[in-house]
Amino acid sequence: MAPAECSVLVSLSIVLLLCFGPVCSQAQPVFACDVSSNPGLKNFSFCDPSLDVKARVDDLVARLTLQEKIGWLVHAAKGVSRLGIPSYGWWSEALHGVSDVGGGSRFTGPVPAATSFPQVILTGATFNESLFQAIGKVVSTEARAMYNVGSAGLTFWSPNVNIFRDPRWGRGQETPGEDPLLTSKYAAAYVRGLQEREDGDKSRLKVAACCKHYTAYDVDNWKGIQRYNFNAVVTQQDMDDTFQPPFKSCVLDGNVASVMCSYNQVNGKPTCGDPDLLAGVIRGEWKLNGYIVSDCDSLNEILYAQHYTKTPEEAAALAVNSGLDLNCGEFLTKHAQAAVDRGLLNETTINRAISNNFATMMRLGFFDGSPKDQLYGNLGPKDVCTPQNQELAREVARQGIVLLKNGPGSLPLSPTAIKSLAVIGPNAAVTHTMIGNYEGKPCNYTSPLQGLTASVPTVYHPGCSGVSCGTAQVDAAKNVAAAADAVVMVMGSDQSIEGESLDRVSITLPGQQQLLISQVASVSKGPVILVVMSGGGMDVQFAKDDPKITSILWVGFPGEAGGAAIADVIFGYYNPSGRLPMTWYPQSYVEKVNMTDMNMRADPTRGYPGRSYRFYKGPTVFSFGYGLSYSQFDHKLVKAPTSVSMDLEEDHVCRSSTCRSIDAAGRSCKNNAAIEVHLSVKNVGRMGGAHTVLLFSSPPEVHGAPRKQLLGFEKVHLVPQGEGVVRFNVDVCKHLSLVDEKGNRKVALGEHVLHVGNLKHSLNVII
Ligand SMILES: *[C@@H]1O[C@H](CO)[C@@H](O)[C@H](O)[C@H]1NC(C)=O
Ligand SMILES: *[C@@H]1O[C@H](CO)[C@@H](O)[C@H](O)[C@H]1NC(C)=O
Ligand SMILES: *[C@@H]1O[C@H](CO)[C@@H](O)[C@H](O)[C@H]1NC(C)=O
Ligand SMILES: *[C@@H]1O[C@H](CO)[C@@H](O)[C@H](O)[C@H]1NC(C)=O
Ligand SMILES: *[C@@H]1O[C@H](CO)[C@@H](O)[C@H](O)[C@H]1NC(C)=O
Repeated sequence: MAPAECSVLVSLSIVLLLCFGPVCSQAQPVFACDVSSNPGLKNFSFCDPSLDVKARVDDLVARLTLQEKIGWLVHAAKGVSRLGIPSYGWWSEALHGVSDVGGGSRFTGPVPAATSFPQVILTGATFNESLFQAIGKVVSTEARAMYNVGSAGLTFWSPNVNIFRDPRWGRGQETPGEDPLLTSKYAAAYVRGLQEREDGDKSRLKVAACCKHYTAYDVDNWKGIQRYNFNAVVTQQDMDDTFQPPFKSCVLDGNVASVMCSYNQVNGKPTCGDPDLLAGVIRGEWKLNGYIVSDCDSLNEILYAQHYTKTPEEAAALAVNSGLDLNCGEFLTKHAQAAVDRGLLNETTINRAISNNFATMMRLGFFDGSPKDQLYGNLGPKDVCTPQNQELAREVARQGIVLLKNGPGSLPLSPTAIKSLAVIGPNAAVTHTMIGNYEGKPCNYTSPLQGLTASVPTVYHPGCSGVSCGTAQVDAAKNVAAAADAVVMVMGSDQSIEGESLDRVSITLPGQQQLLISQVASVSKGPVILVVMSGGGMDVQFAKDDPKITSILWVGFPGEAGGAAIADVIFGYYNPSGRLPMTWYPQSYVEKVNMTDMNMRADPTRGYPGRSYRFYKGPTVFSFGYGLSYSQFDHKLVKAPTSVSMDLEEDHVCRSSTCRSIDAAGRSCKNNAAIEVHLSVKNVGRMGGAHTVLLFSSPPEVHGAPRKQLLGFEKVHLVPQGEGVVRFNVDVCKHLSLVDEKGNRKVALGEHVLHVGNLKHSLNVII
């Protein structure tokens, strides 16, 4: 060992000794290149922030032994004390607030809690792109504050951008819904909120986000079919126009620092061991600047659940050779060396992997010495759970809550006229249920009951002993309801009904909930408000049809302030503007369709109805984009062309013969065919509020085109009688295009029908 390295070792062990107690270890951030206590580290170029990332990474990698390198291929990365590099836990989560899932971040130190935003599905329902980013920004500020006191990591494995393809999926709640455009926009905006630094330095990261689970992952555990060995059979067409776009947007629009490959196989190959999907697409086509990480522990599953390789060494080599950089789990700790020894994996490839990992940590400032001296260095516990951050959590829930039914004289309830409000249901007084999964420790909770009680006198009865509602306490609940001026029933699910490793079989309300609701409604003398708290859609057709149930609200899992937001909507302090980010199917749909059938497109020859509003034409309970307001809004088209002409080469084949579509990668698209669509929106009701404008198009029927697809969305706030203009800049090749059977983007020629609500406009794409 060289003398310089020896002295580093000595001073490091002193630091370690001093910091052995829990106080010190919790109050100090973990970082490398602590030159102030180890001046010898100044001699290492990798510790020099003035050099570029690549030079620093190359310097560091050149100093490591193979064993040390292997230590940085796994999420519990092993410190290299001779170089002043501490151990680091890569696995932190921040799906909707800093979470302690994964162990990289914790609430046992000086920060006992963090702001817990609504579960993502409700955030999707806000259709407010600037809000997506605003949430990410608050979460990353709280994360940095926690990092500075040793309570958090810097690498967060969020967001989940899988398409919510089937209503039964237990993790659909973690996503912004079923639409590729909404999911893509959410993904890029949330990632930017997490990663972008306030000083605008794009080469550096505030924290590192990770888009998961790549790809076509959305079966957890359905009728015994497990994600660990599920083989998703996906057509090239569905892959390129449904499953891949959110990941592509994460990398290209959001500049995400990481992508996580999933557990499942796609077309017979494990995603974490598929060189085309990893090295080919993510690294090659999209040019990820960051690291590819496995789910925890996908590599294990390749071997033990899928039996895809014969030996562990082959599985280890397959993954790293395919483009994987980091293994969540211990698989590579155990098997990488043996894979090298057997000639299956070489050190050059390991260098590539750890270089991607180290580069990310460099961009985070981990190798720049104490974070106290860097941007964000003065953030601390005072910056977590601030009143503003908690207010934003309430605001997101308000903006997301969807009004699904509202009879005359029902909502909003008058807080002065209601002398007694019955609050009934297994979710009426819940707290933890409101924050869904991948949760943290919230700053505070306001349950629905607390939120409502803040405005009017309430009488509470749970109605069932839990959401599974084996035996409803019908008579007791009826007595409470019959005596009240109005009834709010807070029903739905929790993580015991839909969650990770738990897909649903039935999409009706669990147990005797329906019985309870109908019976309570039948004896109520005033408005009956059904509040559905759930991640996925529920078949509540009975409630839609029952005139005694005067209103229905869907509140997702509304976060720590959910009860306050619910009360804001129920009493009209906030005019609801959320829209469903996923189709609500009838129970008959799930009885007919296998969850494991990945096809998005309908196939009438085998009675397959297709999936999502883009392809499914059958009956729905509520459709994608649905949501009411306490006001009415009129739309008028003020600007939209009736035709757009694509610029083709003189000798283009479509000039001489009839074509139904042209290539979206061709010259006409390089010349940026864009159209402007302007709508004037007027609030013709009596209450001010936000209105969500969803612009759809129905393309000509070619290449199995979707029946309609979302082109853009905008949200406007309008006072009563107020009028505003909403502008969409529609890029013909990007937004109006579709993916053909071979996965190529095409612009269909002919009539595209643009629509917003009932308004329709015909746009001819010609050559
Ligand atoms: C750093 O490098 C310089 C020049 O090579 C050398 O003189 C010095 O002893 C080194 N310092 C330490 C602490 O190793
Ligand atoms: C969208 O969210 C932002 C918060 O980032 C809020 O200021 C804005 O009012 C919201 N838009 C509408 C129309 O509600
Ligand atoms: C290392 O392995 C990769 C992937 O198998 C291969 O392309 C490369 O040529 C190898 N490099 C060396 C130096 O052996
Ligand atoms: C926590 O929430 C409850 C219920 O809304 C509220 O009464 C209480 O004031 C809050 N506590 C703090 C410290 O904000
Ligand atoms: C559903 O999947 C099962 C098992 O793979 C298969 O036997 C059955 O035919 C499928 N049913 C439909 C309607 O596709």
